[in-house]
Amino acid sequence: MKRSTRQDSNESFEDFNPLQGKTVLLGISGGIAAYKACDIASSLRRSGADVHAVLTTNAREFVTQLSLQTITRNPAHCEQYGPNADWRPEHIDLAKKADLILIAPATADIIAKMAHGICDDLLTTMILASSAKVMVAPAMNPRMLEHPATQHNLEIIQNKYRYDIIQPDYGEVACGDVGSGKMASVESIVASVGAKLLVHNTLTGRHIIVTAGGTREPIDPVRFIGNRSSGKMGIAMADAAYARGADVTLISTVEVDRAYPVILVETAFEMQETVEAEFDSCDALVMTAAVADYRPLAVSSQKIKKKDSDDIQLELTKNPDILDLLGQVKRKDQVIIGFAAESEELLSNATQKLKKKNLDYIVGNDITVPDIGFGSDDNAVIILSTDGSRENLARMPKRAIAEHLCDVLSLKFVAMSKNAAPKARQ
Ligand code: CTP
Repeated sequence: MKRSTRQDSNESFEDFNPLQGKTVLLGISGGIAAYKACDIASSLRRSGADVHAVLTTNAREFVTQLSLQTITRNPAHCEQYGPNADWRPEHIDLAKKADLILIAPATADIIAKMAHGICDDLLTTMILASSAKVMVAPAMNPRMLEHPATQHNLEIIQNKYRYDIIQPDYGEVACGDVGSGKMASVESIVASVGAKLLVHNTLTGRHIIVTAGGTREPIDPVRFIGNRSSGKMGIAMADAAYARGADVTLISTVEVDRAYPVILVETAFEMQETVEAEFDSCDALVMTAAVADYRPLAVSSQKIKKKDSDDIQLELTKNPDILDLLGQVKRKDQVIIGFAAESEELLSNATQKLKKKNLDYIVGNDITVPDIGFGSDDNAVIILSTDGSRENLARMPKRAIAEHLCDVLSLKFVAMSKNAAPKARQ
């Protein structure tokens, strides 16, 4: 299903063929879904990849080395030590060679080992010895998947080590239980590998600032003016950019534990100060935060007491517009993406903000659509660019929108480096 429509844009990656010439290490751990590893290996090889299968000893109970080496046309590995061991340790060689390591199926056990750096066999040792992108396709009983230990381990490998999780499907698993835990289909696993090889590291070396959440403007020691922003879009954006190799700084009103720097702020002023301090060194600023336009003129140092009168006046004064200020000083080699949550006239309001604030892109959404936007895991947005192009993204998870924005940024950087004026000859 095609969910986005790109208009009037002629930017594209050149010579795209994600699997041709790529080395994929297919790690197979011991679950019933291991029988599908042969189809995955075959499909990856037919798409041009040089596939090397590595099995755990338990995986060998479900699928044979002979099948895998026949399909991949490469030796299939299992033993870490053996009589045929070369002078160079096999795991180091293969681990260095791989462009991508795919663990499919990934049992709860191997996910736990990966999360905690345990390497007690060839496969886990190779994962630790490699700097390749790692993708993990979990397959297990739904209760094992739901268990807080497994969820915690998945969170560690995803958010701390930048591994990608290919989400399991919902359905009946081998033992007859129904729930989420069926390994994703062979087609979607192979498609995810292709997509990842296309975009992996497209933001390496780029410093990207992301702001997230809603600012809180104090009235007195216990009260504030706030808004409904959950910070989910900004956190998804920071995670996606980090997974693609960017140096991410998240400036957030919402606390999150991540491997990249997270600077906690509360008010619009604090957010402005922090963004401004980082802006000069950044390649892109993605401003998802809902910044309060006004703050109380005076903040009471004491809790305001209930009065006899029914009404109380709160005088407000304007906050700085962070994007507006930074749009004015933005260099040609910097990209700014703003957001616009609108309740009416989405297209014209977003277009006006794009121009007025001198942004490169604006991501607009209609807040009157029920169940999406504020607080939800999903959103539907429109992306407008200064070059006049326009994309509609139908309802999708915020992480998918973030991945799309990372594509937009990657393409923009490619276009900017092509257009950069050649240096004068000495
Ligand atoms: N923004 C900002 N500083 C502010 C207000 C908004 O940097 N004081 C940024 C937001 O982070 C967002 C973009 O500007 O990326 C648009 O914010 P929005 O609240 O939709 O627009 P406003 O310019 O505040 O206009 P209005 O509230 O009138 O719609």
